[in-house]
Amino acid sequence: MDGLDTLKAKYLTAVAGASDESALEEVRLAALGKKGEISALMASLGKMEPEVRKAAGANLNLLKDEIDAALRAKKAGLADAALDERLRSEWLDVTLPGRPRPQGSIHPVSQVMEELTAIFGDMGFAVAEGPQIESDWYNFDALNIPPEHPARQEHDTFFMARAADDARPPHVLRTHTSPVQIRAMTAQGAPIRVIAPGRVYRMDMDQTHAPMFHQVEGLAIDRDISMANLKWTLEEFCRAFFEVPSVELRFRASHFPFTEPSAEVDIRCSWEGGQLKIGQGDSWLEILGSGMVHPKVLAAAGVDPAKWQGFAFGMGIDRIAMLKYGIPDLRAFFESDLRWLRHYGFAALDMPDLPGGLSS
Ligand code: DAH
Repeated sequence: MDGLDTLKAKYLTAVAGASDESALEEVRLAALGKKGEISALMASLGKMEPEVRKAAGANLNLLKDEIDAALRAKKAGLADAALDERLRSEWLDVTLPGRPRPQGSIHPVSQVMEELTAIFGDMGFAVAEGPQIESDWYNFDALNIPPEHPARQEHDTFFMARAADDARPPHVLRTHTSPVQIRAMTAQGAPIRVIAPGRVYRMDMDQTHAPMFHQVEGLAIDRDISMANLKWTLEEFCRAFFEVPSVELRFRASHFPFTEPSAEVDIRCSWEGGQLKIGQGDSWLEILGSGMVHPKVLAAAGVDPAKWQGFAFGMGIDRIAMLKYGIPDLRAFFESDLRWLRHYGFAALDMPDLPGGLSS
């Protein structure tokens, strides 16, 4: 019996001292494995007298069970400790924001269109759209530009090809966004407040002209809208768009067939060291055409000029994008040069809005 107590003490100490699962397995094999010490004693029972064997067998089984229980308890303890250790070392902060790596960038023209939409949206203007292939009635006649009018020549129009026997009215690639005025008023009537950003086409190509470029049209019609509302709206727009505390606009009398009176609008600026600064300085930069919508234009769109009046304006989007973001050559806008797009492009997730800042 003394022998068994010694064995018990030996293995329980070994179990307690095992520092990991493989050390514990070695202890198990040494005691209870096929060639282990306890197993050898079990095998020796066969040679004993039946009376002796009975008592010795019972004691051996007891010892075997005790060592087995100690092994299991230790094994569970080691597994718990291993799990605790993993939980401590392998953690992940699920509250960290993701780190997206967007491919590509937003083109400055798209960015500026979003900025325009945000600013005019804040002033109650909705976005209106029209087709880029337009009938010459919408592009010219309805805007008080009859067929013999010289403005038709000035527009360097692209005409759609037609078979000689095709009787449908001629279509053109729209030369300006002004026809959207007609479409919006015809669809919605008055009062109305819309902007219409989009592509326009003219046969022209040099450093400041491309055959396709972008304009935004503005239109506000109500009972008593005046030039004063036009001036405030444009000042407010320029201040927000160029992100300067104040701007000064100069209205120069001009002529457009679709407005009466008409004005071209310049913004005060300076060119210090080749750097354009909007808002202050001794120079003026022309940024748009505008005026009070001509009664004939209202009538063409089914709006009664005796009851309604308002202003319209048209502005080159590419041009104000060049001015705001210091982009020198218009042609590069449409060359799809990846280096240019990476340099002048905007982050895809950085959509402009007024509270968040337009270009920040
Ligand atoms: N449609 C004119 C152009 O393309 C720009 C323009 C001038 C639009 C005056 C207007 C306006 O709405 O009132 O040159």
